[in-house]
Order: sequence, then C-alpha cells, then structure tokens
Amino acid sequence: MGGAVKPLIHATAVVDDGAMIGVGTQIWHFSHVMPGARIGEQCRLGQNVFVGRDVQIGNRVKIQNNVSVYENVTLEDEVFCGPSAVFTNVREPRSAFPKDPATGFLPTRVERGATIGANATVVCGVTIGAQAFIGAGSVVTKDVPPHALAYGNPARVRGWMCACGQRLPLSATQASGQTACSACGRAYELSDTRLRETQAAARAAA
Ligand SMILES: CC(C)(COP(=O)(O)OP(=O)(O)OC[C@H]1O[C@@H](n2cnc3c(N)ncnc32)[C@H](O)[C@@H]1OP(=O)(O)O)[C@@H](O)C(=O)NCCC(=O)NCCS
Ligand SMILES: [Zn+2]
Repeated sequence: MGGAVKPLIHATAVVDDGAMIGVGTQIWHFSHVMPGARIGEQCRLGQNVFVGRDVQIGNRVKIQNNVSVYENVTLEDEVFCGPSAVFTNVREPRSAFPKDPATGFLPTRVERGATIGANATVVCGVTIGAQAFIGAGSVVTKDVPPHALAYGNPARVRGWMCACGQRLPLSATQASGQTACSACGRAYELSDTRLRETQAAARAAA
C-alpha cells in the first residue's frame, strides 16, 4: 500500500514486449502499443488507441478513442488528443513505393500541454507549440506557435489560449499586447506574434 500504482492495461489491449509504460497509466479496450514505445506516468489511452514503434509519450497525456500515434510522432507531457484525431508520418505516400522509416518519415512534435481537437488531422513535419489549441476537425499543415488557437482547413491562427483552456482577449491580427486570463489569472505578453506567460496563476492570485 502507498507504493507506485502499476499501469492498468485492459485484458483486450496488447502491449508488445519492449514497450515501456509508466506508473499510473491506463490503457483501455483494444488498444495496441508497439515495441520500443515509451509512455510516461499517469497517462490515459482510451479505446482503440495505437502507439507505433519507438513513439515517445510524456506524462499525464490523454489520448481519446480511435487515435493512432504513428512512428516519428512525439507527444510531450500533458498533451490532449481528442477522439479520432489523425497523425501522419509520410507526406507523399504511395503503396507501390514504400518509404524507409529512417529517411522517409517526417517527425511531428506536440509540445507540452497542447490540445488537438476531435477529428483534427496533423500533416507530418510540423511542431504544435506548448499549450497550443487545435480546433475540432482542423487540418494542420504548418507549425503552430505556443498558446495559439488554430482551426479550419487549413488551420490558421485565430487567437490565443490560456494554459487553462480559456480563450484570451487578444486578436490573431495584433502583433503585441498584454492580457490576463479571466478564468485563472495567468498573465501574458504578446510580442512579435509570440505569446509568453509573464505571471503564473498562483502568483496572480496571491
Ligand atoms: C475552437 C473552439 C475551442 C471554439 O473556440 P471559440 O473561440 O469559442 O470559437 P466560437 O465558438 O466563438 O466560434 C468562432 C467562429 O469560429 C468557427 N469555429 C469554431 N470552431 C471551429 C472549428 N473547430 N473549425 C472551424 N471553425 C470553427 C465558428 O463557427 C465561428 O464562426 P463564425 O465567426 O463564422 O460564426 C471549439 O469550437 C473547438 O473546436 N473545440 C474543440 C472541441 C473538441 O474537439 N473536444 C475534444 C474532446 S471532447
Ligand atoms: Zn486561464
């Protein structure tokens, strides 16, 4: 009692030899984790989630039903993947001319705390910045800066999101400005179209 909580792997899930699953992580019905994959602590993988060979997933990541995290996709801590979000790893796939994973797969990185909405598609070779938010059904074709709210096809930056998930009162067209989140008090500064947190919620509340 009181020790680390072992991963919970449902009887219908398949975790291949050589995959590593952190303490407290839950893997639910019909999910499959390939050899060499590394999933951190306190993650939750829903039903029918696939994690490819050598994929790295951080701590406290939530992956909803029907998401495939293919080889060369990296999810940092606290990333949220909505149901049926789609990752890719080959930009110009052809059945008759398969790519060599070592040279033909493009990396995709989702940085800490970012959210990918339900049914969004992420075309490979992009970085989704920390705490960025991708709207449902979007098609991401370019890098998304930290804290940006991007949606549509193709996904464009339409605004800015607090770490807590509240939209900030800054427009996508302004290059600079300051604001605070009405929900949690975190303060932000926008300069050169990059958003930076200047005051954390706890300090703001003190
Ligand atoms: C993007 C989102 C956060 C809404 O942001 P918001 O700032 O409150 O946006 P609004 O609802 O005010 O909509 C603003 C405009 O963008 C459009 N819009 C909102 N979300 C959109 C999306 N995902 N794709 C395309 N357009 C979208 C709205 O239709 C509206 O258009 P209009 O100005 O022509 O009327 C939300 O729509 C979303 O996609 N959330 C993700 C939900 C999800 O996938 N959850 C998964 C876990 S269950
Ligand atoms: Zn907030």
